[in-house]
Amino acid sequence: MKFFVDTAEIDAIAELNALGMVDGVTTNPSLIMKSGRDILEVTKEICDMVSGPVSAEVVALKAEDMIAEGRKLAEIAPNIAVKVPLTWDGLKACKVLTDEGNMVNVTLCFTPNQALLAAKAGATFISPFIGRLDDLNTDGLGLIAEIRTIYDNFGFETNILAASIRTPNHMSDCAKIGADVATAPPNVIKAMANHVLTDKGLDQFVKDAEKAGIKIL
Ligand code: E4P
Repeated sequence: MKFFVDTAEIDAIAELNALGMVDGVTTNPSLIMKSGRDILEVTKEICDMVSGPVSAEVVALKAEDMIAEGRKLAEIAPNIAVKVPLTWDGLKACKVLTDEGNMVNVTLCFTPNQALLAAKAGATFISPFIGRLDDLNTDGLGLIAEIRTIYDNFGFETNILAASIRTPNHMSDCAKIGADVATAPPNVIKAMANHVLTDKGLDQFVKDAEKAGIKIL
């Protein structure tokens, strides 16, 4: 499973990228707002740092305006994936932009039928939002599994990009289900390294190394 990092914070992306943990980046208008940066400038900086797909989201609502915005975003760098919402207009924009050779990420997906439509429209990525479904007491991971089954049944090449990830368990569950990509905030990716027994075991090893006077350098 590929790891995308879900942020527009340059320092956080750089830290994970140095560890080889960043196969791509996703942003959205809320994350751009949080960064306090201009969308075109910050997206260019991210594209210069990361070689994988970098999703940049349109803000228009009508297909023709989304297409114009998507074309402008795609000019930033060859690794831009234009992000469009899963509306009828968004699907129209997806078809035109993919036919022009751009990567397109169709976002705000909450049902298997929406994912089916995105695949038919040629989406490069479909972004089902796990956490926002869980927030409503529904089954976010179940949606990933349903889309996996549907795409595999018919050989759709659209990549399942599990989004709205809130916990380390979401990451391992998505990997088990077979999501192609999971995009998570930096803190969730870093939290995947944590275990209380790791901390406890290391504490004992440090104490014993001191007692034994072990020196390596
Ligand atoms: C990714 O493409 C989405 O924009 C993001 O994962 C949404 O996450 P949230 O539901 O935590 O805002």
